[in-house]
Amino acid sequence: MAFDVARLRAEFPILATAAAGVPLHYLDNGATSQMPRAVLDAIDRHETTSRANVLRGVHRLAEAATAAYEGARREVARYVNAAAPAEIVFTSGTTAAINLVARTFGEQLGAGDEVLLSRLEHHSNIVPWQLLRDRRGIAIKVIEATPEGRLDLDSLDRSVTPRTRLVAVTHVSNVTGAITDVGAIVAAAAKVGAKVLLDGAQRAPHGPLDVQALGVDFYAFSGHKVYGPNGIGVLWGRRALLDAMPPFMGGGEMIRTVTFEKTTYADVPHRFEAGTPPIAQAVGLGAALAWAARLDGAAVESHLMDLTGRLLDGLQTVDRGRGLVRVIGPSGLQARMPVVSFAVEGAHPHDISQLLDREGCAVRGGHHCAQPLMDFFGVAGTTRASLAPYNDRGDIDAFVGALDRALEKLL
Ligand SMILES: Cc1ncc(COP(=O)(O)O)c(C=O)c1O
Repeated sequence: MAFDVARLRAEFPILATAAAGVPLHYLDNGATSQMPRAVLDAIDRHETTSRANVLRGVHRLAEAATAAYEGARREVARYVNAAAPAEIVFTSGTTAAINLVARTFGEQLGAGDEVLLSRLEHHSNIVPWQLLRDRRGIAIKVIEATPEGRLDLDSLDRSVTPRTRLVAVTHVSNVTGAITDVGAIVAAAAKVGAKVLLDGAQRAPHGPLDVQALGVDFYAFSGHKVYGPNGIGVLWGRRALLDAMPPFMGGGEMIRTVTFEKTTYADVPHRFEAGTPPIAQAVGLGAALAWAARLDGAAVESHLMDLTGRLLDGLQTVDRGRGLVRVIGPSGLQARMPVVSFAVEGAHPHDISQLLDREGCAVRGGHHCAQPLMDFFGVAGTTRASLAPYNDRGDIDAFVGALDRALEKLL
């Protein structure tokens, strides 16, 4: 049966909204995706029937809230195929998850140790390691990019050294949409006993994962990009590694006993969840992942690749043979996600995005928190359209038409 995008769209109330009669074509899913009714209802139900603090009270609502919070953790564990729910640490997002690793696992590193990043990283997988470098004297090395906007795996063997302790790279580039060859990274890291962290912010929205089969050690992603609320994210880590890591933040619920002389800490994952966590957000995230896991993955993938192909063709059409529109990333559909960036010679991405917005097309224009990659491509920024399963051909055609008219004005 063909993928029923109209039915899926009907689950997202926001897609039916219009501004001044202009319908919404939401193509900024890489920044934040929209929430289906199932998630909105789960949050509403929680707040109206089970709102209380977790892991402390013994009254009915406190127990319901704790059950919902820990149930969400089990849902996340299922989605990523963790060995146990205890391997799931709730954070406020991908950024917080990576910072947690830098502040805990990273704190065990020192001068002479190397952390290997890539040219494709989002700033949130660069800056925490620079802060660690300032604190601990580690060295940062970088896997370069290819002209197609992928990790340059030919340089991998030179980049991984006996001093490499961690390889921290993106699973999918938020700029180019390229999917990382995780097997090659894991194999290279294994040769020197280094751990691997994947920034899964742009991969997690595209269906369930198997962190065990990937062979990595840490995995980070954000709730607001996986059809869930913001203010919640996930760090998955191998249990033995989490167990060996010191706490990051101190406070309530991360302790076992406290005296003024000495504090002992709770087991993972609570050791890393000091204070009142984002409870309704966790519940919403659990509902979002349960919703995403129910989609027909193969049908969604072929739908999204059909739209991505249509979008790439559209970019060629609006270029009209002038050679001004340049795709920043793979030009085809191989090993990529539905994230398409492009630069237009003579037109600023902010101006393009603003003109598109007037026609209801929400895209992102700018450096996408990936300035080192912008430098590599020699551009100040790009315009990026990033798709979700609820996008349809109408969205792509509206975008291509609006872009054509925008470039007519700007060039
Ligand atoms: C690849 C990648 N990493 C990290 C992040 C940061 O995510 P958050 O702002 O939710 O922490 C993003 C968000 O755009 C991203 O695309």
